Amino acid sequence: MADGEAVERAGRAAHIRSFVLRQGRLSNAQQRYHQQMMARIGVAYRAAAVDLDLLFGRRAARILEIGFGMGETSAAIAAAHPENDYLGVEVHTPGVGSLCKLVAEMGLSNLRIVQHDAVEVLRDMLPPASLDGAHIFFPDPWPKTRHHKRRLLQPAFVELLASRLRAGGYIHCATDWEEYAQQMLAVLSADRLLENTAAAFAPRPAHRQPTRFEQRGLRLGHGVWDLLFRRRQDSLQAEDHRQDQLA
Ligand SMILES: C[S@@+](CC[C@H](N)C(=O)[O-])C[C@H]1O[C@@H](n2cnc3c(N)ncnc32)[C@H](O)[C@@H]1O
Repeated sequence: MADGEAVERAGRAAHIRSFVLRQGRLSNAQQRYHQQMMARIGVAYRAAAVDLDLLFGRRAARILEIGFGMGETSAAIAAAHPENDYLGVEVHTPGVGSLCKLVAEMGLSNLRIVQHDAVEVLRDMLPPASLDGAHIFFPDPWPKTRHHKRRLLQPAFVELLASRLRAGGYIHCATDWEEYAQQMLAVLSADRLLENTAAAFAPRPAHRQPTRFEQRGLRLGHGVWDLLFRRRQDSLQAEDHRQDQLA
């Protein structure tokens, strides 16, 4: 089986959802900005590759963020790095409305939003080797054992995400849930396309400003663990070689 097929299968097999769509209260402002801004910066999900140069109107480093919550960190990072383009993916409408408001208020031109399941966005919209980085900050820890299957960071998902990175592109995860941090470390370390940039957990990279969840976790006395992996420089050639051998 070719690698592309393996990734395709992985994406489909991983389809236990990592979120539950809650109604949540949508403030008037969130609703208004959602309506106004998604027409400008929203990208509708469709099962076809998206042209990122066309989407952002330029060629720049492309960073995906999965599950941006209320989007404060996403907006702060995009404002601090106007040289990069950011694609935020979130399913929760109040969060999308909140980031729309920040984008409008801060006048950001380098951020686009897809309101959809990130697994499907990765699988269907983002071409292989199209991303320079991916951020997953404080993904839902699903603490009960019977819910662990809902965690986003599973081998099939990591394989799919790694395939969308260019060689040298990074995955940066953070969590305040120690046991999930250990799972992330094991799953990311086991992926053949990735290498750890640290001996185990990484110091918090400067681009990640503390999030709401982190601040809450710290108040509750939780630790915070950052993980910073890169797609191996030689992984694209190795994959080409494997495909040649399989052909
Ligand atoms: C615990 S919150 C963390 C939010 C934010 N990153 C922060 O640190 O404040 C996790 C977020 O991920 C979103 N999420 C979970 N699975 C997702 C998926 N498959 N696609 C898109 N968003 C997802 C949830 O809706 C939720 O808003």
